[in-house]
Amino acid sequence: MSSGPHDILHRVVEMGQGLRALAEPDIPEILEIERLGYSHPWSEGVFRDSFRSEYTVLGVEQCGQMAGYGVLAALYDEAHLLNLCLRPASRGRGLARQLLRALLRAAVMQGMHRVVLEVRASNHVARKLYESEGFAVVGERPGYYPDGATREDALVMILEFGATGPDP
Ligand SMILES: CC(C)(COP(=O)(O)OP(=O)(O)OC[C@H]1O[C@@H](n2cnc3c(N)ncnc32)[C@H](O)[C@@H]1OP(=O)(O)O)[C@@H](O)C(=O)NCCC(=O)NCCS
Repeated sequence: MSSGPHDILHRVVEMGQGLRALAEPDIPEILEIERLGYSHPWSEGVFRDSFRSEYTVLGVEQCGQMAGYGVLAALYDEAHLLNLCLRPASRGRGLARQLLRALLRAAVMQGMHRVVLEVRASNHVARKLYESEGFAVVGERPGYYPDGATREDALVMILEFGATGPDP
Protein backbone atom coordinates (compact mmCIF):
# COMPACT_ATOMS: atom_id res chain seq x y z
CA MET A 1 0.00 0.00 0.00
CA SER A 2 1.50 3.36 -0.99
CA SER A 3 1.41 6.42 1.29
CA GLY A 4 0.06 9.83 0.31
CA PRO A 5 1.91 13.06 1.17
CA HIS A 6 -0.15 13.56 4.33
CA ASP A 7 0.58 10.04 5.64
CA ILE A 8 4.28 10.59 4.99
CA LEU A 9 4.32 13.93 6.77
CA HIS A 10 2.46 12.44 9.70
CA ARG A 11 4.98 9.59 9.99
CA VAL A 12 7.99 11.90 9.69
CA VAL A 13 6.62 14.27 12.34
CA GLU A 14 6.01 11.37 14.72
CA MET A 15 9.71 10.46 14.45
CA GLY A 16 11.06 13.73 15.84
CA GLN A 17 10.31 15.57 19.05
CA GLY A 18 9.04 19.10 18.51
CA LEU A 19 8.50 18.60 14.78
CA ARG A 20 5.25 19.61 13.17
CA ALA A 21 3.83 19.95 9.68
CA LEU A 22 3.24 23.64 9.01
CA ALA A 23 0.23 25.19 7.32
CA GLU A 24 -0.89 28.58 6.02
CA PRO A 25 -1.83 29.98 9.48
CA ASP A 26 1.87 29.61 10.41
CA ILE A 27 2.95 32.08 7.72
CA PRO A 28 3.22 35.17 10.01
CA GLU A 29 5.59 33.33 12.37
CA ILE A 30 7.53 31.85 9.45
CA LEU A 31 7.92 35.33 7.94
CA GLU A 32 9.20 36.71 11.24
CA ILE A 33 11.95 34.06 11.34
CA GLU A 34 12.65 34.39 7.60
CA ARG A 35 13.24 38.14 7.93
CA LEU A 36 15.66 37.60 10.81
CA GLY A 37 17.50 34.91 8.84
CA TYR A 38 18.13 36.36 5.40
CA SER A 39 19.22 39.63 3.80
CA HIS A 40 16.78 38.85 0.95
CA PRO A 41 13.86 37.01 2.58
CA TRP A 42 11.13 35.15 0.71
CA SER A 43 7.85 37.02 0.33
CA GLU A 44 4.55 35.92 1.85
CA GLY A 45 3.41 34.86 -1.64
CA VAL A 46 6.33 32.46 -2.02
CA PHE A 47 5.42 30.80 1.29
CA ARG A 48 1.77 30.57 0.24
CA ASP A 49 2.91 28.78 -2.93
CA SER A 50 4.93 26.39 -0.75
CA PHE A 51 1.78 24.94 0.80
CA ARG A 52 1.09 22.83 -2.26
CA SER A 53 1.04 19.08 -2.50
CA GLU A 54 4.54 18.57 -3.92
CA TYR A 55 6.07 20.58 -1.07
CA THR A 56 6.94 19.45 2.43
CA VAL A 57 6.99 22.27 4.99
CA LEU A 58 8.13 21.23 8.45
CA GLY A 59 8.66 23.27 11.58
CA VAL A 60 10.46 22.63 14.82
CA GLU A 61 9.17 24.04 18.08
CA GLN A 62 10.86 24.84 21.32
CA CYS A 63 9.08 26.02 24.47
CA GLY A 64 5.83 26.42 22.55
CA GLN A 65 7.36 28.73 19.96
CA MET A 66 8.38 27.98 16.39
CA ALA A 67 12.17 27.81 16.33
CA GLY A 68 12.63 27.17 12.62
CA TYR A 69 11.30 25.61 9.46
CA GLY A 70 12.36 23.86 6.29
CA VAL A 71 10.83 23.62 2.82
CA LEU A 72 11.42 20.71 0.45
CA ALA A 73 9.96 20.33 -3.05
CA ALA A 74 9.71 16.92 -4.70
CA LEU A 75 9.81 16.63 -8.47
CA TYR A 76 10.12 13.31 -10.33
CA ASP A 77 12.91 11.49 -8.47
CA GLU A 78 14.66 14.59 -7.15
CA ALA A 79 13.88 16.71 -4.12
CA HIS A 80 15.03 20.31 -3.80
CA LEU A 81 15.73 21.73 -0.36
CA LEU A 82 14.47 25.28 -0.88
CA ASN A 83 14.75 26.74 2.59
CA LEU A 84 16.06 25.90 6.06
CA CYS A 85 16.04 28.64 8.64
CA LEU A 86 16.31 28.85 12.42
CA ARG A 87 15.42 31.73 14.70
CA PRO A 88 18.77 33.30 15.73
CA ALA A 89 18.07 32.64 19.43
CA SER A 90 17.44 28.94 18.71
CA ARG A 91 20.60 28.24 16.72
CA GLY A 92 23.50 26.06 17.78
CA ARG A 93 21.30 23.47 19.53
CA GLY A 94 21.07 20.86 16.78
CA LEU A 95 17.59 21.90 15.68
CA ALA A 96 18.55 22.59 12.06
CA ARG A 97 20.11 19.13 11.86
CA GLN A 98 16.94 17.60 13.33
CA LEU A 99 14.79 19.42 10.77
CA LEU A 100 17.12 18.54 7.91
CA ARG A 101 17.09 14.85 8.84
CA ALA A 102 13.29 14.87 9.00
CA LEU A 103 13.12 16.45 5.53
CA LEU A 104 15.57 13.86 4.20
CA ARG A 105 13.38 11.09 5.62
CA ALA A 106 10.36 12.66 3.94
CA ALA A 107 12.27 12.70 0.64
CA VAL A 108 13.13 9.01 0.95
CA MET A 109 9.55 8.11 1.83
CA GLN A 110 8.38 10.01 -1.24
CA GLY A 111 10.66 7.82 -3.38
CA MET A 112 13.24 10.52 -4.12
CA HIS A 113 16.69 9.41 -5.26
CA ARG A 114 18.57 12.54 -4.32
CA VAL A 115 18.22 15.95 -2.66
CA VAL A 116 19.66 19.07 -4.32
CA LEU A 117 20.21 22.49 -2.77
CA GLU A 118 21.90 25.82 -3.38
CA VAL A 119 23.85 27.58 -0.67
CA ARG A 120 25.69 30.88 -0.62
CA ALA A 121 29.42 30.26 -1.02
CA SER A 122 30.02 32.44 2.09
CA ASN A 123 27.51 30.50 4.28
CA HIS A 124 30.05 28.32 6.04
CA VAL A 125 27.68 27.33 8.86
CA ALA A 126 25.09 25.88 6.47
CA ARG A 127 27.76 24.29 4.25
CA LYS A 128 29.26 22.54 7.28
CA LEU A 129 25.83 21.22 8.29
CA TYR A 130 25.07 19.92 4.78
CA GLU A 131 28.52 18.36 4.37
CA SER A 132 28.22 16.62 7.72
CA GLU A 133 24.92 15.08 6.55
CA GLY A 134 26.58 13.70 3.39
CA PHE A 135 25.94 16.45 0.82
CA ALA A 136 28.75 17.08 -1.67
CA VAL A 137 29.42 20.18 -3.77
CA VAL A 138 28.77 19.30 -7.41
CA GLY A 139 28.75 22.72 -9.07
CA GLU A 140 28.49 26.47 -8.88
CA ARG A 141 25.95 29.00 -10.09
CA PRO A 142 27.87 32.27 -10.57
CA GLY A 143 26.01 35.37 -9.34
CA TYR A 144 22.96 33.35 -8.23
CA TYR A 145 22.22 35.41 -5.09
CA PRO A 146 21.71 39.17 -4.71
CA ASP A 147 24.38 40.69 -2.49
CA GLY A 148 23.99 44.44 -2.06
CA ALA A 149 24.99 46.08 -5.32
CA THR A 150 26.68 42.89 -6.55
CA ARG A 151 25.85 39.15 -6.70
CA GLU A 152 27.18 36.14 -4.83
CA ASP A 153 27.83 32.66 -6.23
CA ALA A 154 25.78 29.67 -5.13
CA LEU A 155 27.29 26.26 -4.56
CA VAL A 156 25.10 23.38 -5.71
CA MET A 157 25.16 20.46 -3.28
CA ILE A 158 23.68 17.00 -3.75
CA LEU A 159 22.98 14.10 -1.44
CA GLU A 160 22.44 10.84 -3.33
CA PHE A 161 20.49 8.25 -1.39
CA GLY A 162 22.01 4.81 -1.40
CA ALA A 163 19.96 1.66 -1.01
CA THR A 164 19.41 2.40 2.66
CA GLY A 165 18.52 6.12 2.50
CA PRO A 166 19.85 8.71 4.97
CA ASP A 167 21.13 7.86 8.40
CA PRO A 168 18.37 8.16 10.98
C1 LIG B 1 22.33 27.40 8.87
C2 LIG B 1 21.38 27.28 10.06
C3 LIG B 1 20.06 26.70 9.56
C4 LIG B 1 22.01 26.32 11.10
O1 LIG B 1 21.09 26.24 12.20
P1 LIG B 1 21.51 25.70 13.66
O2 LIG B 1 20.26 25.33 14.37
O3 LIG B 1 22.42 26.66 14.32
O4 LIG B 1 22.32 24.39 13.30
P2 LIG B 1 22.58 23.16 14.30
O5 LIG B 1 22.63 23.65 15.71
O6 LIG B 1 21.63 22.08 13.96
O7 LIG B 1 24.06 22.75 13.90
C5 LIG B 1 24.27 21.93 12.81
C6 LIG B 1 25.69 22.07 12.31
O8 LIG B 1 25.86 23.36 11.71
C7 LIG B 1 27.21 23.78 11.91
N1 LIG B 1 27.20 24.96 12.76
C8 LIG B 1 26.18 25.42 13.55
N2 LIG B 1 26.56 26.59 14.11
C9 LIG B 1 27.81 26.84 13.70
C10 LIG B 1 28.73 27.91 13.93
N3 LIG B 1 28.42 28.94 14.72
N4 LIG B 1 29.94 27.87 13.31
C11 LIG B 1 30.25 26.84 12.49
N5 LIG B 1 29.43 25.79 12.22
C12 LIG B 1 28.24 25.81 12.84
C13 LIG B 1 27.91 22.65 12.64
O9 LIG B 1 28.42 21.75 11.65
C14 LIG B 1 26.76 22.02 13.38
O10 LIG B 1 27.00 20.70 13.73
P3 LIG B 1 27.75 20.36 15.15
O11 LIG B 1 26.95 21.06 16.20
O12 LIG B 1 27.65 18.87 15.22
O13 LIG B 1 29.12 20.89 15.02
C15 LIG B 1 21.16 28.65 10.76
O14 LIG B 1 22.41 29.24 11.00
C16 LIG B 1 20.29 29.62 9.97
O15 LIG B 1 19.06 29.59 10.07
N6 LIG B 1 20.93 30.52 9.19
C17 LIG B 1 20.19 31.53 8.41
C18 LIG B 1 19.46 30.89 7.25
C19 LIG B 1 20.39 30.08 6.38
O16 LIG B 1 21.49 30.51 6.03
N7 LIG B 1 19.91 28.89 5.98
C20 LIG B 1 20.62 28.01 5.07
C21 LIG B 1 20.24 28.34 3.67
S1 LIG B 1 21.04 27.27 2.49
